[in-house]
Amino acid sequence: MSNAGASAAPAIPFGIRPARAQDVDWIAASWARVDIEGAVRGGRRSVWLAEDGAGGRLGFLVAEDCVDRVEIHAVAVAGLARRRGVGRALVRRAVERARASRRERVDLEVGQHNRAARALYVDEGFIAVARRPRYYRGGEDALLMSLRVTSASPATARGHAPAARGRE
Ligand SMILES: CC(C)(COP(=O)(O)OP(=O)(O)OC[C@H]1O[C@@H](n2cnc3c(N)ncnc32)[C@H](O)[C@@H]1OP(=O)(O)O)[C@@H](O)C(=O)NCCC(=O)NCCS
Repeated sequence: MSNAGASAAPAIPFGIRPARAQDVDWIAASWARVDIEGAVRGGRRSVWLAEDGAGGRLGFLVAEDCVDRVEIHAVAVAGLARRRGVGRALVRRAVERARASRRERVDLEVGQHNRAARALYVDEGFIAVARRPRYYRGGEDALLMSLRVTSASPATARGHAPAARGRE
């Protein structure tokens, strides 16, 4: 699923909705099935799915509500849909959840060599707050990144246009 170095592609219309039981197979192709099955049933974890106007699945995000923060556990976008704002819109959905529930920050972990993901998070205002040496199989370090949630929306605060276009 590597797309490092890909350049920005034209926008496509897409929307984001809560994932349902029928999405589990698609998501489980890139994330742990047991976790997804539990998360789509509700509780502290939520799963959002990005889909195009024809119902094609483009990407997903898994997040968990913790006491003072929302943790993003996974975000992935299908190869052909990358660099079209889908990942950004999914991350913003998690940030909006934190803001709406008055949680103070959004946390996540990312591999230090994951250039695309790091660029996305930095662009959305996340900062690296800690490093976990050799955290991943293969020895890659993990960076813990965090975004402090304010009352202003990130799109307004950072001067970006809204990322999700179309049916959201
Ligand atoms: C990381 C990932 C979710 C990004 O999704 P995406 O839909 O392609 O990202 P977006 O189109 O919303 O990109 C938003 C911004 O992130 C940055 N970015 C995204 N991909 C990039 C890349 N390949 N190279 C450099 N910057 C990138 C850019 O700043 C981009 O803004 P721009 O297109 O206006 O320049 C996607 O590459 C992916 O699924 N990767 C594999 C799974 C993964 O690594 N998940 C993260 C685990 S922590």
